Amino acid sequence: MNAAVRAVVRTALHHQDLAVFGIIGGYAGLLESNLQRLESRAMANILQRGGTVLKTGRCLEFHRPEVRAQAAQNLRNLGIGGLVVIGGNGSFMGAHLLAQEHNISVVGVPGTIDNDIYGTDQTIGSDTAVNTALDAIDRIRDTATSHDRLFIVEVMGRNSGFLASAVGLAGGAEEILVPESPVPLEKVVQKIQASASKGKRSSILIAAEGQKPGRAYDLAEQLRKRAGLDAKVCILGHQQRGGSPSASDRILASRLGHGAVEALMQGKTQVMIGVQGGKVVQVSLADAATKSKPLDRESWLLASTLA
Ligand code: F6P
Repeated sequence: MNAAVRAVVRTALHHQDLAVFGIIGGYAGLLESNLQRLESRAMANILQRGGTVLKTGRCLEFHRPEVRAQAAQNLRNLGIGGLVVIGGNGSFMGAHLLAQEHNISVVGVPGTIDNDIYGTDQTIGSDTAVNTALDAIDRIRDTATSHDRLFIVEVMGRNSGFLASAVGLAGGAEEILVPESPVPLEKVVQKIQASASKGKRSSILIAAEGQKPGRAYDLAEQLRKRAGLDAKVCILGHQQRGGSPSASDRILASRLGHGAVEALMQGKTQVMIGVQGGKVVQVSLADAATKSKPLDRESWLLASTLA
């Protein structure tokens, strides 16, 4: 996110002598008019840092129309002419409503490790999260192989299995369990047993956390009860949301942040800046907020074929 913030600020300051403000703490910060003027030098040395220097947070109040009206009023009082929102579909829905109800110019930039935003091939943070999870899995594989063990590694992904699927394919997982395509437990057991009968003595299953973080423990319990399998559980959790961003994420964030300011300067509103087939594109923000991005089943199936 820092790379995107930096790109927004420096693109705006490069093109015209615009004033740029950072909203501290997401929509909650906007409601408190907690804004900070950002100069080019304030963006120094943030490119390589995880998290966001602007701070962020979920703001449930923003679901209420009167709260959005207050936010729009705050923007007007401050003379803000355009708003760039970096986030996932919840953030985009808030931005879309702000634009629709109060005629505020808004542009979205997709930032979520889940990579589940409609209209873009990639979201900021997902590549770094895949690499972070992969690093852990490669280490876990050492124990799995040396001790002939079965592991369940739980990765993030509330409603989608993009992260799990990418991690599973890159990490050589034996099975990837995603919310979009539930696999019956019997099938998982059959697969592990079939592999064991061919001499395979260790396996790693990747499970997306789905709506229930920690579900890998339930899964391990079921494997134990139904098939007598002893699975070790490792939950990667919020580790995946931190750390220095990968080169690919920094480049993506720089391109999308730049694209967001360009779009505002072209008079565009209610668009999300995404990337499709390597090209920066503008897509409807309403679509990005409401439509779902189908899981890349090809990668998911490929991981299974190669396991
Ligand atoms: O939506 C992004 C995400 O990282 C999900 O993968 C995860 O389920 C969720 O956020 C965790 O959110 P929080 O940190 O608020 O618990």
